[in-house]
Amino acid sequence: MPARAPSPFAHAAAQPLDATVALLARFRGDPRDAKMNLACGTFVNPRGEVPLLAAVREAERALAAEAHPRDYQPMAGDERLLAAARDLLLGPALGASMRHRLAAMQALGGTGALRLAAELLQALVPAAPVYVSRPTWGNHAQIFEAAGFAVREHPYVDTATGEPDFQGMVRTLRDEAPRGAIVVLHTSCHNPTGFDPSPAQWMALADVFLERGLIAVHDIAYQGLGDGLDEDAHALRLFVARGIPTLVAHSLSKTFSLYGERVGTLWVTCTDPTEARHVGSMLQRRVRTNYSTPPVHGAAVIARVLEDPDLRAAWRDELAGMARHVQAMRRRLVDGLEQAGLPVARRQLEAQKGLFCFSGIPADVVDRLRTEQGIYLPRSGRLCLAALDPPGVRRFLDALAAAWAIAA
Ligand SMILES: Cc1ncc(COP(=O)(O)O)c(C=O)c1O
Repeated sequence: MPARAPSPFAHAAAQPLDATVALLARFRGDPRDAKMNLACGTFVNPRGEVPLLAAVREAERALAAEAHPRDYQPMAGDERLLAAARDLLLGPALGASMRHRLAAMQALGGTGALRLAAELLQALVPAAPVYVSRPTWGNHAQIFEAAGFAVREHPYVDTATGEPDFQGMVRTLRDEAPRGAIVVLHTSCHNPTGFDPSPAQWMALADVFLERGLIAVHDIAYQGLGDGLDEDAHALRLFVARGIPTLVAHSLSKTFSLYGERVGTLWVTCTDPTEARHVGSMLQRRVRTNYSTPPVHGAAVIARVLEDPDLRAAWRDELAGMARHVQAMRRRLVDGLEQAGLPVARRQLEAQKGLFCFSGIPADVVDRLRTEQGIYLPRSGRLCLAALDPPGVRRFLDALAAAWAIAA
């Protein structure tokens, strides 16, 4: 018998999981009945279930009744989804005026849009460094590194005070970042901190982008879960209207509660229709060689909801209800923390927006919550407000007071 050739996979090394993914796996393996998951990044009810929105259910019923055949989509994806998403992101007036200067693609969620954006930028400006906020969503740096970029950080939160460090961010982008650098921005509901720049600060940032020729990657994953659909897109519209080279990575996962369908869109603002065509063709080449064409179902559902006036109104109401729920839980939590005399900065917590509370709970207390009470949140202290209801807030506060007293 000839000697068996050595395995080509012998050098494969197990890769560490993302900290969040690893924590969720630990939660699933925890046998305690009363365990509580506040680590999730999805809008879940207090039983940990992702809701199926009524508007989505209706749209699915209608599509099932029509029984559409499942041909391949064009590489750019569902045109109706793209038209509706453009309106959502830019508003009808700016969207229409930019129509011929945009390269647009349906993408595999916000993550897929970011990866496509990173691959496009790597082909066009490979030497530009990519700046992300410290802290940021755990996947940002990995995605841009996987595409070949050097990733750097700019300050976002002052670690000593826990306050937003807007001046530090501006200083780094204006004085340290080379001309033409790429900057990943959270358009609204910054993950994990919940701190968003004010409209005046966005204006000042836009000045820095124009002065330094920076390229913006707007990551918008929570539109409508902060102050409202238009308000949450304000920063993006400002950048586009001011002519800053902008890519938009748009996730529809949270806003339609359709995480597993992987629907998102990617937009690139170009200077003229020819440039937009060229950029579009570069994106299509990347789609073709990765997965050929994007999936049909989730995109068709979302397009149906957004095109049908009744379904759209129902969706807006449900989304607004989700936003109200997290706002109410934030207020309850902040009041409770203060009443319990825990050392948290009320003003900071109240200034935050979106799904998460960046609580400032120290890592050793987070560890005690997990080991002693079965309450899971990441060591950054970010907790998912959607996973709480009034009894959940009470339970969390009692557990926190106990864990903090022991840890102190
Ligand atoms: C800031 C941010 N961007 C992008 C995403 C990814 O979205 P998707 O699930 O659509 O890939 C997330 C998801 O948690 C996020 O928080």
